[in-house]
Amino acid sequence: MPRVMDAFRVEHWRRPHVVVAMGKGGVGKTTVSLRLGLEAAKQGMRVLVASLDPAGHLLEYLGLPGPLREQEVYPGLRAVQYSIEPLAKKVAEEYAVLLRRLAPGLDALGGGDVLRAIREAPGFEEEVFLRVLEGLYQRSDVDLVVVDMPPTGVALRVVALPRLHLFWSQRLREIRERIVSIKYAIANALGRRGELHDPVLSKLEEIEERNRRLHEELTRPERTSFMAVATPEPLPVYEVRVIAEKLRELGTMLEAIVANRVLMERAGSLGLEKVEEEALRRLRELRCSQEPPAGLAVIAHAPRPPSRIEDVEALEDYIVSVERGPCT
Ligand SMILES: Nc1ncnc2c1ncn2[C@@H]1O[C@H](COP(=O)(O)OP(=O)(O)O)[C@@H](O)[C@H]1O
Ligand SMILES: [Mg+2]
Repeated sequence: MPRVMDAFRVEHWRRPHVVVAMGKGGVGKTTVSLRLGLEAAKQGMRVLVASLDPAGHLLEYLGLPGPLREQEVYPGLRAVQYSIEPLAKKVAEEYAVLLRRLAPGLDALGGGDVLRAIREAPGFEEEVFLRVLEGLYQRSDVDLVVVDMPPTGVALRVVALPRLHLFWSQRLREIRERIVSIKYAIANALGRRGELHDPVLSKLEEIEERNRRLHEELTRPERTSFMAVATPEPLPVYEVRVIAEKLRELGTMLEAIVANRVLMERAGSLGLEKVEEEALRRLRELRCSQEPPAGLAVIAHAPRPPSRIEDVEALEDYIVSVERGPCT
């Protein structure tokens, strides 16, 4: 029986390993993430499936008691649905404290205004998702974390964010270093004792280090595997291409592609034969464009949409094939 897991280079994984699941909304990211988690748990791994997808589908799927309430849903398999609201509040408050320290003039504004400005700043949501991801990398009680990401656009911005932060914190640190050294030289020239320790500089160094680490974790295949899920249709397949391009630009690649809800013989009777064929051909092409080539798992369209963990288990009979290794 082929398994979704076989599409990955599990033998290179270092624990705890993180699989980042991406793809267009509705293609089966949550289902496939659970399927992968289930297979890994059956292999004796301690697995956590964490959904960051605001759709929150995981809750109904597993009958979880609510967001942020992690629970074992199968022996060896835990699951949690993240809710962004409480975390966003916490992160915004942290930034407000930092901002007030860096720019005391902001006190003229009401505390609520500062918080609102932070919450509505572009990229803030991505920052919150990144915090969640960072926390997941620190889980030492599991061997594998499967992260069910929000839809493609947001997901890609989240994984690119550490590099962006790194760029800006480096530039800001250079500027701050110049300021500190000029202050020091002036103090010395005036016969006072100069101060080389600078709290702003320390904070910038901390931010830089943190994002360097995160970027490294995300782009090291031993630590992070990227999986793209698509149904055999033009738009979802196009998104896989966008994901592959972004990952290449970040210095990493897709490790696995999953073609989900493939109609197979039934495609013909629906007049979708050509569309499906073309989509699978493109996914294969994308698999072979990765270095090393990605794995490709094909899952057929089940007659009943999976909606419980038992259905995910029963999906076994619908995993049609897994292609891996060199392309000829
Ligand atoms: N292989 C499959 N066969 C039939 N239905 C599927 C299959 N995979 C997923 N589904 C159904 O498709 C819908 C979307 O799946 P879901 O995993 O929630 O997608 P996403 O997380 O990408 O939004 C759900 O109703 C799910 O039950
Ligand atoms: Mg989902």
